[in-house]
Amino acid sequence: MTLTLGSLEVPVPVVLAPMAGITNAAYRRLCAEQGAGLYVCEMITSRGLVEGDETTKRMLVFDEAETVRSVQLYGTDPTYVGQATKILCDEYGVAHVDLNFGCPVPKVTRKGGGGALPWKRNLLGRILEEAVAAAAPYDVPVTMKTRKGLDDDHLTFLDAGRIAQETGVAAIALHGRTVAQAYSGQADWDAIAELVASVDLPVLGNGDIWEAADAVRMVDETGVAGVVVGRGCLGRPWLFRDLASAFGPEGPGATTLPTLGEVTVMMRRHAELLSEHMGEERGCKEFRKHVTWYLKGFRAGGELRRSLGLVDSLAALDRLLAELDGDEPFPVSELGAPRGRQGAPRHRIVLPEGWLDDTDGLGEGSAGVLEDVDETTGG
Ligand SMILES: Cc1cc2nc3c(=O)[nH]c(=O)nc-3n(C[C@H](O)[C@H](O)[C@H](O)COP(=O)(O)O)c2cc1C
Repeated sequence: MTLTLGSLEVPVPVVLAPMAGITNAAYRRLCAEQGAGLYVCEMITSRGLVEGDETTKRMLVFDEAETVRSVQLYGTDPTYVGQATKILCDEYGVAHVDLNFGCPVPKVTRKGGGGALPWKRNLLGRILEEAVAAAAPYDVPVTMKTRKGLDDDHLTFLDAGRIAQETGVAAIALHGRTVAQAYSGQADWDAIAELVASVDLPVLGNGDIWEAADAVRMVDETGVAGVVVGRGCLGRPWLFRDLASAFGPEGPGATTLPTLGEVTVMMRRHAELLSEHMGEERGCKEFRKHVTWYLKGFRAGGELRRSLGLVDSLAALDRLLAELDGDEPFPVSELGAPRGRQGAPRHRIVLPEGWLDDTDGLGEGSAGVLEDVDETTGG
């Protein structure tokens, strides 16, 4: 089973979910070394890119092994999004642009961005039109990623699907949660199936894929053209090996169960790639947040975990990893279990004043919503 996004042919229907602070060049390469798929860069802001913001530019780096460059843009202003899309295609040679309409972070929804934006249908349409028009001369597909809606009383996904189709978007990814749910509860795969039934463009399903078998089940149950995998691969890049084989000619195989020794090899590789891209000090610092995920369910003692969480050089990492028992088998109790952020639902979604009054509008004024340069929280 392959995935077709406009001109882009992905050999397996598997997409690494953009995750701010995680899916940088090092992590994308690490995952891509495991199996085929589409590996999306962490979110960058349209305005930051257009204005040449340094933080934004630092995030827009690609590994030399990365032949297909895929980037997620955040934006609330159609003009900036159009310009940013053009820059990505023209100067960065990207082969795919995804647009973020799912972020639940209050700092973002307060401005009408991320998951709040699809409520303004005209604004959503204008942004998509601008992006699609900017990418068209380069034959680069534009996709969008969204949630079910603001909350159960303000669903937006079916309208978003229709608007995506009308504006020439190549696919729509749906995370089966509302903004109010954030990462809590269970993703609603029925909503994903409903979207598949209501549009003619490819739908990508997202939410709660923890194992390759879940991905196959999502395709079977909902009819999606592909899956988007986020938290399930945290500390488990080999999930992409299982996913690629599950959708490959052989079909689902055995789940990869690395020993702790094999996990440490992966950890070392991850830290090394981060160091190559960011320098050793920053790379090791970045690596720290992944330690808990890699060691989830293993016996490794608290003291050693704490030291790994403070690692500041590859040599120190090697010394600490050598203390782990390489023969310890993979903790199978972790299979199928949620990992990464889950949190609690939100009682109140922070929105711009009067946002809910009008679902057709454009937000503040005809130019759309004011956009920050440095929005990097993702989600
Ligand atoms: C740490 C983290 C950062 C995220 N950043 C982004 C982001 O920048 N853009 C986006 O569209 N989604 C982002 N997400 C949401 C994921 O892409 C995905 O939709 C969500 O985690 C649900 O999929 P999952 O159940 O496979 O994790 C983020 C999620 C996490 C956990």
